[in-house]
Amino acid sequence: MTIHHFKGFGGVRLEADISGDENDPAILLVHGAGQTRAVWGTVAEGLVQAGRRVVSLDLRGHGGSEWPEGGRYDLAAHVEDLRAVLAQLGSRPVVVAATFGGWIASIALSVDGSNLAAGLVLVDMPVRSDPQVAKDIGERLRKVGTKVSDWDNRALDGVDLDAVSAQLLDAGPSLKLPTLVIRGGISWVRQAEGTKEFDKSLPDAEVFEVADADLLVMTDRTEALLAHLLDFLERKQPRTANEFRAGSDARTLRDAMGCFATGITVVTALGDDGAPIGLTANSFTSVSLDPPLLLVCIAKTSGTAHRLREAEHFAVNMLQTSQQPTSNRFAGKGQDRFAATAWHSGETGVPLLDGSLGSFECKRHAVHQGGDHFILIGEVVRAQYEPRRDPLLYFRGKYRRLHFA
Ligand SMILES: Cc1cc2nc3c(=O)[nH]c(=O)nc-3n(C[C@H](O)[C@H](O)[C@H](O)COP(=O)(O)O)c2cc1C
Repeated sequence: MTIHHFKGFGGVRLEADISGDENDPAILLVHGAGQTRAVWGTVAEGLVQAGRRVVSLDLRGHGGSEWPEGGRYDLAAHVEDLRAVLAQLGSRPVVVAATFGGWIASIALSVDGSNLAAGLVLVDMPVRSDPQVAKDIGERLRKVGTKVSDWDNRALDGVDLDAVSAQLLDAGPSLKLPTLVIRGGISWVRQAEGTKEFDKSLPDAEVFEVADADLLVMTDRTEALLAHLLDFLERKQPRTANEFRAGSDARTLRDAMGCFATGITVVTALGDDGAPIGLTANSFTSVSLDPPLLLVCIAKTSGTAHRLREAEHFAVNMLQTSQQPTSNRFAGKGQDRFAATAWHSGETGVPLLDGSLGSFECKRHAVHQGGDHFILIGEVVRAQYEPRRDPLLYFRGKYRRLHFA
């Protein structure tokens, strides 16, 4: 992630986080009043993982962006800021904007919107604020703002709440770009006057309401928000699929294989000189229950390969979450792997790594050719496992942990 500064309206410095691959389709995230770009943390992460480049902006008077002296905080200034940022981006992003940010984005994109952005997503945006609710929220935000001072308390002063609704209803029919309106169940956001009229006026929109009562989808249902957002993006801002064809680069094939999530093992044995050998491998698969067989695929070029293939017995140690350093050690060069690892000998003499999630001690059953790897099949003579530990996982070239849905 890098921090980038844009030039906003009147030269005001606007700060943003940029993450993801620069070749991926871009998303611009715009937070609401009294928030900062930090509010998008989980959503931004999910978008990057789904192959998007994410620019997460702090509005003027918020977070790391400039808090202009004399404080021009009217809606028009915010709108011009956003248009300036869009003009400075290399490609047209989909703009995802929450609450107050939605007001800014709707008005900013109602002129020439499709030249500036590839789509618009409005999250929890009320078309008309209930004056009492607006007052309560304003007061609450001001209190929070004074405490943590991550936004300028004057930032709401310049917004004429009465004028906004009319401006939005005016902007609606001119939003000529794919639009997704997504709202949680907070009743004043959903039922506020003008909401249906605004939705209907949008030329190319999908409206989605998350059913649970009294929730803001933005903060309370981040995962539901992300799911709808990704579905919309896949349809309206499709990524070109990566493709491998026989004969083309091995890197794309490796990346394709990396989409299959696995656990991680360290395969160990004793060399013919009695010294322990071992390497990290995620190509482990169970093969048969009767007889009990498993396999691992070992690169013929690996330093361990020839000794492992000759070993009468070998072990597969399944790693648990705290053994990431062990995985790195047994995949890296230039370290005495066993000197830095606690281990003991199994019944068949093979090295078993202490504290593993489980281990299989095997007798070599067969060795098959498999291109630049060989397939080592073992007959399990002893298996042990620890039911209370979580596995270390590997997916798309990175370590992962279990996440229970
Ligand atoms: C997560 C992960 C999984 C791996 N899986 C395998 C595998 O299944 N087979 C293999 O031959 N190498 C695999 N490797 C690579 C080896 O661990 C690495 O090349 C190691 O340095 C080989 O050691 P050696 O040359 O001492 O035998 C993997 C590496 C990592 C980080």
